[in-house]
Amino acid sequence: TYVVTESCIKCKYTDCVDVCPVDCFREGPNFLVIDPDECIDCTLCVSECPAEAIFAEDDVPAAQQHFTALNAELAKQWPAIIERKEPPADADEWLKVKEKLKLLER
Ligand code: SF4
Ligand code: F3S
Repeated sequence: TYVVTESCIKCKYTDCVDVCPVDCFREGPNFLVIDPDECIDCTLCVSECPAEAIFAEDDVPAAQQHFTALNAELAKQWPAIIERKEPPADADEWLKVKEKLKLLER
């Protein structure tokens, strides 16, 4: 499966959503996750993300390994998002910020 990691938090550009053939993105207040039970490993979303937030499960950086379980957990709680929407007005300001996990809203 593919995993959305920390750089998505507060950026949430949603370009990834438009290319997913199986609509497996789930939307929270300031972050998206991938439902690991639905992802077919097509890879299409990876290059779409301006924040480079999406990795194959085996390639998730060591410091972000916990995002794999977090995607699975939150995918059970959050609704599907199937169309791109406007990102937050301040999305670009958060693009280079590294530590954003504490800002995650559930
Ligand atoms: Fe969707 Fe493909 Fe990305 Fe999985 S890898 S989330 S199926 S676009
Ligand atoms: Fe997040 Fe990147 Fe998608 S910032 S919403 S994973 S395009």
